[in-house]
Amino acid sequence: MRVPIIAGNWKMYKTVGEAVNFVRELAGRVAGVSGVETVVCPPFTALAAVAAELSKQGAGIVSGAQNMYWENEGAYTGEIAPGMLKEVGCRYVILGHSERRRYFGETDAAVNKKVHAALAHDLIPIVCVGERLEERESGTTEDVVRGQVEGALAGLTARQAAGLVVAYEPVWAIGTGRTASATDAQQVNGFIRKLLVDLFGETAAGAVRIQYGGSVKPGNTAELMAQPDIDGALVGGAGLKADSFAGIITNAVGAGSGVGRL
Ligand code: 13P
Repeated sequence: MRVPIIAGNWKMYKTVGEAVNFVRELAGRVAGVSGVETVVCPPFTALAAVAAELSKQGAGIVSGAQNMYWENEGAYTGEIAPGMLKEVGCRYVILGHSERRRYFGETDAAVNKKVHAALAHDLIPIVCVGERLEERESGTTEDVVRGQVEGALAGLTARQAAGLVVAYEPVWAIGTGRTASATDAQQVNGFIRKLLVDLFGETAAGAVRIQYGGSVKPGNTAELMAQPDIDGALVGGAGLKADSFAGIITNAVGAGSGVGRL
């Protein structure tokens, strides 16, 4: 059974003070909501304070980072090691977000090293994939997504793969207000599931949670989540306000999410 997972990617937003106030308010709004896993991914600077506030609130919300490097330590100015994220209470780490790929030159090979390093440190990777607008328009979406999935997950065992979260985020839907239709999103999420079956077998593939991301809002959550291969959302803009993020979380509960499909 796949428990839906709603994660807020805060990108480069919120000071430590703003972050702590946000999670306090969010915990109040979603207290008592069950059947969905909630993750917040603040900037590095706020991770420790957010984890401390979350454990004080006891609402079951967990934290994740937005990136990390694959080495344990060393002369890598500006980078953050997996063990450092564990120390400040992270359970998840977003890897290969399209903004990392676009602005910081991250490749599938780099994402693959990060995925292995995260798993070695007991961090759960949220592996992001998705096509650009010109790729969708030229009909290469599946080829692009296949390359990203195979590249990012190379060398994993079925057991390791089963614990992953994959986020399908079409680049043209990020921050644009242009959500993929539930049907289009399901088509790619279903394609990813089939790819995972080929790579890791039915059991492992059936355990992977595949999120959709790109202009997710409270109003479109239930329809997206009702699709058989959409097991959650990776939320940007609407995850920055406690009321809209709480709306997404509550609308995700019981929306279907393909539970028990495989
Ligand atoms: P938006 O929800 O703002 O479109 O961002 C999506 C995203 O990039 C989450 O990682």
